[in-house]
Amino acid sequence: MFITLEGIEGSGKTTQVNNIIRFFEKRGDDCIVTREPGGTEIGKQIRTILLNPGNRNLFPLAELLLYAADRAQHLKEKIIPELSSGKTVICDRFFDATTIYQGFARGLDMKLIQNLHHIVLDDLKPDLTILFDLPVKTGLTRAWKQIDEGSRSNAETRFEKEALAFHEKVRSGYLELAGQEPDRIRIIDASNDKKKVSEEIMAILTHELENR
Ligand code: TMP
Repeated sequence: MFITLEGIEGSGKTTQVNNIIRFFEKRGDDCIVTREPGGTEIGKQIRTILLNPGNRNLFPLAELLLYAADRAQHLKEKIIPELSSGKTVICDRFFDATTIYQGFARGLDMKLIQNLHHIVLDDLKPDLTILFDLPVKTGLTRAWKQIDEGSRSNAETRFEKEALAFHEKVRSGYLELAGQEPDRIRIIDASNDKKKVSEEIMAILTHELENR
């Protein structure tokens, strides 16, 4: 099973990953957690370029191609082999982030992005995507608090530094996408406290597994 987590900055995806692993381990399922960008050693190098706030001159097309390169490496090196060996793969962001950040928010041609997805993904799609939704200001406040406290790296703030309007586009893009694919993309209210968010995720996972 291939599960992806999506959402705006500060939506709490990374915090919930441990609860998701525990859920699968309790069932006796083998699972791995990974992320994009940066799910492989080569991907970590690409991540450094993509998230470095000093890279203000990175053109949107170059940004898109770097995400695609990270994903191509990640799929071949990790995601496909792990899925083939029967493991559940949980990925913190995947191709929907490209559709939303580079397409919806940056305004790159959606057709180009779909073509790239076609080349890179080779028809692989997540079985389930959990969209962590919350107001942009709440998310950004959380993200900057984590950065100020040192639990998130200050060297990875290129997107946090985008204008509020950019993040509003990201949020509305994700909600629109979820509306187009309600069977795959499940929205949770990430403005709730951690316990409530975790319960909502567990209910979605239980329902998904019962209906597979
Ligand atoms: P994160 O690891 O904190 O989620 O940061 C990754 C950032 O990269 C986040 O701001 C979203 C952005 N991103 C894209 O713009 N396109 C993509 O395809 C992916 C995977 C992430």
